[in-house]
Amino acid sequence: MKQRIELATNAIKKARKSLNKQFYPHYHLAPYAGWLNDPNGLIYHDGLYHAFYQHHPFSSLWGPMHWGHATSEDMIHWQHQPIALAPGDEYDKDGCFSGSAVSHEGKLYLFYTGHIWLNGANDDSAIHQTQCVAISDDGIHFEKKGVVIPSPEGFMHFRDPKVWFQDGKWWMVVGARDALDQGQILLFSTTDLLNWNDEYQTLAKTEDKNVYMWECPDFFPLGNHFITLFSPQGKKSQDYQFRNLYQNGYLVGQWAPDQPYEITHQFSELDFGQDFYAPQTFLAKDGRRIAMAWMDMWESHMPSQEHGWSGCFTLPRELVLNDQGKIIANPIEELKTLRQDEKIIPSTILIKNTDILINENATCCELELVWDLQNSSAEKFGFWIGNGIQFYIDNQNQKLTLSRHYPKYIISDSRSTELPKTKQLKIRAFIDKSSLEVFINDGEQTFSCRIYPQDSDYTLKLFAINQSAKLDNGTFWNLERAI
Ligand code: FRU
Repeated sequence: MKQRIELATNAIKKARKSLNKQFYPHYHLAPYAGWLNDPNGLIYHDGLYHAFYQHHPFSSLWGPMHWGHATSEDMIHWQHQPIALAPGDEYDKDGCFSGSAVSHEGKLYLFYTGHIWLNGANDDSAIHQTQCVAISDDGIHFEKKGVVIPSPEGFMHFRDPKVWFQDGKWWMVVGARDALDQGQILLFSTTDLLNWNDEYQTLAKTEDKNVYMWECPDFFPLGNHFITLFSPQGKKSQDYQFRNLYQNGYLVGQWAPDQPYEITHQFSELDFGQDFYAPQTFLAKDGRRIAMAWMDMWESHMPSQEHGWSGCFTLPRELVLNDQGKIIANPIEELKTLRQDEKIIPSTILIKNTDILINENATCCELELVWDLQNSSAEKFGFWIGNGIQFYIDNQNQKLTLSRHYPKYIISDSRSTELPKTKQLKIRAFIDKSSLEVFINDGEQTFSCRIYPQDSDYTLKLFAINQSAKLDNGTFWNLERAI
């Protein structure tokens, strides 16, 4: 593996020198070259945050999966590290697929899926997947130790292990698709990280018969409940819900070791934007539960591929559970350290069809707006980023909508969710070259998507269409470059 890692790491170093920066983020983790998808092995270990990711170092298209690696002291400033895992052993010949990390007795353990195509590349109907482990003493160089859990009978799609320690045991959840093509999560346990018991329980299973696979499961306590976070495939869209190719969301329930999982709240989406998939959570050093996701979607157009790289993570978000069993997600506090050039936007009334310029070159910034919903009768009001993005309150339909229009890249779509029934609406938006993340009413709803403006198309404006809208207050900051 050493040679393959050196080859890939050197290829990235070389490509970095000629990186086309048009869409490259300033404070989101992304590869300098090659492809990135799911966050893997997120962990605080030995004084540093580690983020690994699904990575093809030699192409901006998906291919034989490696694990890319970056480290950080604060989850914002990331330092790229040598590639951690490369495929090529008998059991992971065609890919080191997604997984997780644990820190144990000073060592860093990576649990991942060894992937093999049985009929040549890219034929999902004949694959073999097993759960494997690799170990590191220094947190940078990993030694593979092979398969720890073979695929159970009847499960061909069996991947994305998430491991944690609880009540004297190690536990692992794995995403699976049974012989009847039903998505589910299998639960394994052990007292010895290198020797797992092959027996499993089905922790949770789809009730929606269209859902054939649950990818990237995570299972963790939040408040006094247990959350099952996963990415179901096959869910049909319903009205304005579930419009992405694949979904992401969570169940809320109660669980104790060796007890069945009792679901108290059914499936809810974690984010309402176009680009949010395969999130994984971890504990920050002070115990906060943090999630990061892949801010893209399978089969979407990814214009940065022409520049030799693709894929980035969302901002790290702190998750808490509210009394209604809903996850509240907010960007981590540490992000405030990037704020500069504060500009206060005074309280104002936007009369019909007017707009207000906030910034002419909003490439790397944060915007906070508080709208008075009770005194805003405009049909639509919100903000524009150039000609490509509108984020608005749709008064007529009582919806919040994020719409994108980049005909040059054949991207034109919109996503909506219900407008909260509050007197004011607080919007916090983060723009970073090719991404937009919006947090509503202190994290009650979030929208994440990739944006692809031309260099001259980053004008940030507030707008109101037909009748007026009242802004109670707002603030704009440029954000310092972190990466
Ligand atoms: C989710 C996923 C995982 C798999 C990985 C392969 O996006 O399909 O299930 O492990 O990506 O790159």
